[in-house]
Amino acid sequence: MCGIVGITSNKQVTTSIINSLRKLEYRGYDSAGVATINEGHLNEVKCEGRVDVLEKNLSKSNLKGTIGIGHVRWATHGIPNSVNAHPHSSESVSVVHNGIIENSTLLKKLLIKKGHKFKSQTDTEVIVHLITEYLKKNDLKKSILKVLKKLHGSFALGIIFKDQPDLIVGARRGSPLAVGYGPNENYLGSDSYALKSMTNKISYLNDGEFCILKKDNVEFFDKKGKKVNKKVLEVSLDGQNYDKGDYKHFMAKEVEEQPTTIKNCVNEYIDKVNSDINIFNFPWKGNEISSIMLIGCGTAYHSCLMAKYWFEQLTTLNVNVDIASEFRYRNNRFKKDTLYIFVSQSGETADTFAALDLCNKNKMKTCSVVNVVESSIARESKFVLPIHCGPEIGVASTKAFLGQMLVLYILCLKISKMRKDIDKKKYLEKIKSLFSLSKLTKQTLETDNKVQSVCSSFAEIKGSMFLGRGYSYPIALEGALKLKELAYVHAEGYPAGEMKHGPLALIEEGMPVVVLAPRDEYYKKTISNMQEVIARGAKVLLITNKSKDEVYSENIWEKIEVENTSEDLLPFLITIPLQKLAYYSALKRGYDIDKPRNLAKSVTVE
Ligand code: M6R
Repeated sequence: MCGIVGITSNKQVTTSIINSLRKLEYRGYDSAGVATINEGHLNEVKCEGRVDVLEKNLSKSNLKGTIGIGHVRWATHGIPNSVNAHPHSSESVSVVHNGIIENSTLLKKLLIKKGHKFKSQTDTEVIVHLITEYLKKNDLKKSILKVLKKLHGSFALGIIFKDQPDLIVGARRGSPLAVGYGPNENYLGSDSYALKSMTNKISYLNDGEFCILKKDNVEFFDKKGKKVNKKVLEVSLDGQNYDKGDYKHFMAKEVEEQPTTIKNCVNEYIDKVNSDINIFNFPWKGNEISSIMLIGCGTAYHSCLMAKYWFEQLTTLNVNVDIASEFRYRNNRFKKDTLYIFVSQSGETADTFAALDLCNKNKMKTCSVVNVVESSIARESKFVLPIHCGPEIGVASTKAFLGQMLVLYILCLKISKMRKDIDKKKYLEKIKSLFSLSKLTKQTLETDNKVQSVCSSFAEIKGSMFLGRGYSYPIALEGALKLKELAYVHAEGYPAGEMKHGPLALIEEGMPVVVLAPRDEYYKKTISNMQEVIARGAKVLLITNKSKDEVYSENIWEKIEVENTSEDLLPFLITIPLQKLAYYSALKRGYDIDKPRNLAKSVTVE
């Protein structure tokens, strides 16, 4: 992962670098650093921990310079500490890197033989020594070309040179990199978001390209060193709200924003007057698609899994779902009539991007469902459906999950109508039920007190299971993922009907089990499975929807009821108590909710 920034200017740059690094902390936050060139010297300040710590260290060190690079790290090679933090520097060169150099061990051995001394355990340091070595006999551009040829793996790089105090080199393979243009200064960043407070004029490097940034001009080159022209794009200076307001954590705010997320999405995609779907310019006809492949990672994968149930229910298409890191290495049978759908909040997840790239190279129909419309995945997809959630800052994906599910549901209805798989009456009914979803989400958020009281018991537990069938199965997986990543509790999501094939052996007296049993077609079966775990001592938290029929509640430990809606929209509502359960459990344990240990918001390594 990791975030990189570089600025060349006629003003001091450290404050701007720190501001950009703060925006990049969604990519990693275990260590950070800055290097500048000042009066012919390369200087660096690095630390273990977050940008706040770096800022304090910088104020003590009085680091100056009108050119500099900065980095936030998510450790791959070497533990998070100040030595392994980037930038990595030799006497003459300083480098920040996002990605993984796969042949670093071999390169390191060769460089040690040549007399190079390594300080860190990182793969990045080989880049520093390689450049230093090539610069002995070559000019800067030739040295860069030679270094890039030697490196295997993925990278975005920012490099400064003691003897060239007016320029920064940027290079990318696999990992994204943007260039920003300002008045008498230019910028390098992992994304345009990091640069938005300074400029809205952006160019993106294509895979294999590198660039040379000076404060008054930028040159781009392809992998052979041939100059390339770049379009300058004007991205929106979005004025989005990036602060927590009165909330303690971004996650709490983002969970509460979900009714708005749904409202925005419905307004964007549904024509209320005609009760129809506003997805214009969809590039393929209904009869050009006979199957769907949905691909994502983590929470996005769960929304893909959810969509499989809807597509199978509402269309006659064959539907498959895959985890991006599996799909990309599978021996896939690419088919012209398959629509490949990539789901990603950030639009930068390395495995999802690689899976998309693979499909594009095989000339497949590709469509993405993303939150960040300027992201790499959005830019490379043939058709893009934004989820209109606004920035999601908390590492745990919450409002984006609901947004992804909603867009996939709407796309499913659209394709179903195009293919004439759904009759008009049913179509109109489905559209109509979407109009009340935002309100129902808001009402369900009011289960807060109940969840808080349940959480005092959850905060103490060692492990838990989340069970569901049909539509509730992907939500069980999502509930378990949330509890793992936020409260650091071992949690398994499982299809309720599979318990007796093994996992039932885990159930013992007092084990907390969350059973998702909304009143849908699977309800009775799930309740039977619930009785099986209760009979073996489980302490069951039942999540269901309000109904006139009393649920069989003997021996249930606790029950949370969400609002009522159509069966296929209930997953939106039962997700909410699970998000809150994870939130309050983590809060009670005193963990860092927006930045859980070992994780990052955007996973840009494979
Ligand atoms: O940005 P993406 O949606 O592609 O991210 C995918 C996963 O890394 C992400 O959903 C992750 O699982 C979340 N931290 C879960 O809350």
